[in-house]
Amino acid sequence: MYQIQTLQLSRVCLFKIKMAITSFFRFVCLSLFTFLSAQSKHLPYLTSPYLSPTTIFPNYQKMLQSFKIFIYKPNKPFTYETAAESLFYTSLLHSPFRTENPDEAHLFFVPFSPDLSMRSLARFIRTLRMEQPYWNRTLGADHFYLSCTGIGYESDRNLVELKKNSVQISCFPTRNGNFVPHKDITLPPVKNPQAPLNTTARFLGYVMVNGGRESTLVNELSYDPEFLIESQPSDQVGRSKFCLFDYEVDVTGIGEALSLGCVPAVITDRPINDLPFMDVLRWQEMVVVVKRERGVKEVKRVLDRTWRERYEEMRGLGVVASKHFEWHEQSQPFDSFQTVMYELWLRRHTIRYVRREAWFK
Ligand SMILES: *[C@@H]1O[C@H](CO)[C@@H](O)[C@H](O)[C@H]1NC(C)=O
Ligand SMILES: *[C@@H]1O[C@H](CO)[C@@H](O)[C@H](O)[C@H]1NC(C)=O
Repeated sequence: MYQIQTLQLSRVCLFKIKMAITSFFRFVCLSLFTFLSAQSKHLPYLTSPYLSPTTIFPNYQKMLQSFKIFIYKPNKPFTYETAAESLFYTSLLHSPFRTENPDEAHLFFVPFSPDLSMRSLARFIRTLRMEQPYWNRTLGADHFYLSCTGIGYESDRNLVELKKNSVQISCFPTRNGNFVPHKDITLPPVKNPQAPLNTTARFLGYVMVNGGRESTLVNELSYDPEFLIESQPSDQVGRSKFCLFDYEVDVTGIGEALSLGCVPAVITDRPINDLPFMDVLRWQEMVVVVKRERGVKEVKRVLDRTWRERYEEMRGLGVVASKHFEWHEQSQPFDSFQTVMYELWLRRHTIRYVRREAWFK
C-alpha cells in the first residue's frame, strides 16, 4: 500500500517535472523564435542593398545554371550606337545563356538596328510572327529588345505588341512616354575609369555641370560655399558628402557616385521610376530625392537631415551596390550585364497560349 502510494506520488511528481520542463523549453523556443524572426526581418533591411536579400543569391545561381535565350537573326547586319548597348549585345552573343534551340528558350531576343524606321521594324516583327510559332504564343511577351531611346506609341499592331508586351531595354534616363515601368529595364551608363576615392568629406554637395543646361536651382547652389560646382570630374567628388544630379539634365553619373561613396541626391519634380535595377536594389536606401520647386533651402535641409540621420548606412549600401554598375568586356558576376540578365530572369514567366487549331484536333 505504502509502496503504491509512493509510486503514484513519484509518478505525479515526474509528470509535473515533465510538464515544467516542456513548458520551459516551449518558452525558450518561442522566445528564440520570436527573437530570430525579428532579427531576420530587420537585419537584411539594415545591411543589404537588395529588395529581396534572402532570395537574390539562390535565384541568381539558378539563373546561371538554367537561363536560356534564343536570339533571332537580324533582318540586316548592324551595330548598336551606344557603349552600353554594344557591351550588352556582345556579352549576350558570347554568353552561356544563348541557345540555338528555341524550344528550350525562356526568352527570345529581337535584334534590330537603332536606325531602323518604324515601318521596317513593323515588317520585321510581322515576319517573325508569320514564319515562326514563338511570337503568337505570348503575343511577344517572352520577347525582349534593345533600343537606347525606346519605342513610342504606334498604331501598327506589330509595334503595339512589341511596345506593350515585350520587355524593352533602353538607356537610362529614359524618354518621357517611352518606358513602361512594370516590365521595361534600363541599362546603366558606361562610365570612364574612376577618380581616386578620398573619404575626407569637405563639401556638402558636389554638382557636375553640363555646358550651360543647368537649372536656376543649380545656379543658385553655385553661390553657396557648401557646394562645389565643377565642369570637369576631379577627386573632389569623393570629398563631397552628396553628389547632386539634375534629373532633367544628366543623371548618368549615379553609378560612379555610388562607387566613390558620394551619396547621390537627385533633384526632380516628378517621380523617378526608370532607375537601373529598380526591381533588384533598394534605391530609396541609397539615393536622396529632392524637390526642385522648394529651392536651395530645402536642398540643404534635406541633405543636412540625411547627413545626421542615416548617411553612413546609405553610403555603405551604395558602395556595395556599385558593383552592379560596372561594365566589363568579359562579363563578371553581378556586373551590369549579369544584373540586367537577372532582371530578365525575373521576367521569364509568361503564359504561353496553345495555338488555336490545337483545341479542335
Ligand atoms: C500567328 O497568328 C497570325 C494571326 O494573328 C497568323 O496569321 C499567323 O499565321 C500565325 N503564325 C504562325 C507561325 O502560325
Ligand atoms: C585627399 O584629399 C587631401 C586633402 O585635400 C589631399 O591632400 C589628398 O591628396 C587626397 N587624396 C587622394 C587620394 O586624392
